[in-house]
Amino acid sequence: MVKITDTIKYIGVDDKDIDLFESQYVVPEGISYNSYLILDEKNTLMDTVDARCIDEWVGKLKAELGDKKLDYVVVSHVEPDHAGGIATVVELYPDVTLVGNAKTFQMLQQFFDYSIDGWNKLVVKEGDELNIGSHTLTFMLAPMVHWPEVMISYEKSEKVLFSADGFGKFGALELTADDDWACEARRYYFNIVGKYGMPVQTLLKKAAALDIAVICPLHGPVLNENLGYYIDTYNTWSSYTPENKGVLVAYASIHGNTAKAAEKLGELLREKGVEKVVVSDLAREDMAEVIEDAFRYDRMILCAASYDAGVFPCMQKFLNHLQAKAYQKRIVGLVENGSWAPSAAKTMRQILETMKDVEIVEPVVTIKSVMKASDIPALEELAGVIAGK
Ligand code: FEO
Repeated sequence: MVKITDTIKYIGVDDKDIDLFESQYVVPEGISYNSYLILDEKNTLMDTVDARCIDEWVGKLKAELGDKKLDYVVVSHVEPDHAGGIATVVELYPDVTLVGNAKTFQMLQQFFDYSIDGWNKLVVKEGDELNIGSHTLTFMLAPMVHWPEVMISYEKSEKVLFSADGFGKFGALELTADDDWACEARRYYFNIVGKYGMPVQTLLKKAAALDIAVICPLHGPVLNENLGYYIDTYNTWSSYTPENKGVLVAYASIHGNTAKAAEKLGELLREKGVEKVVVSDLAREDMAEVIEDAFRYDRMILCAASYDAGVFPCMQKFLNHLQAKAYQKRIVGLVENGSWAPSAAKTMRQILETMKDVEIVEPVVTIKSVMKASDIPALEELAGVIAGK
């Protein structure tokens, strides 16, 4: 049982058998949908959960609330993994008042084919306060972290920040209690929120003005110690600053020959003393994990086969994802393979050149079908240039 304070109860649920979160991210350890109940003169629910887990969650809500009345539901985020239980709450507690901003209700209505006009609603704006007894919630808008209607709430008597998707991570709480936070928080951040670095920076500036003892996100563990670490890490990520020195070598290989060149580059980089080298197969590994590494390290080498006068599709997909997530401020090397008309480097360059502050280094190495002894000097030169950056 997650303990927050005597009056703020965790009533979230673990989803341990979802195949793909948001229909695209593998979550081998599941995910938690967090929901909190503040018991006070006015009992207040902070978000609901995904409809997949509604029965378990209703059981927890009723167990904590007993025969007391539910007065408010704060809707921090309308995405269905959190607002999936709103209609159920209104059905169970028809007198409840939903608390959201103007955009919250506009977006919430879109999820129903009947009018929600008859529901009790309290529309709040930036800085508004809601006193519920000994607790007082202050609402702050956090548009695009990660939808436009998102808002966070700060409870000042117990110094609790309800941070919506911010500071969230993949992983069911029961299965990941001892896991390192950053690993799955980073994969979550760059793949889900990554495009919106500026809005996260704005949110962090608001958070800096608060005295925070506990962060309650909508996914992952409640954070109640060493909060400076989490806030600093989010600052690094959202400013697109590399977190670690190192090189990601990502390859797209059809028959395994480009893969051998990528492995060789990895070996050369290690010999040259690069702090951390990660070699990843874009055709087989979790793309979201490789995207995470692309943002984590300051340098990247892309090795790809040519294909249909362009680049092998998994590399194209990887670069399109990086472009969408605002990949920037990094140093990149290129290796292409082609058996008759190499086209991979040109295609990769075209996409990379649309990104901000991405430096493509020379030499760009071209391999014909299979890496040979005669290719090693060029690979060695590229490894040397990247290692020296
Ligand atoms: Fe966890 Fe943006 O929903």
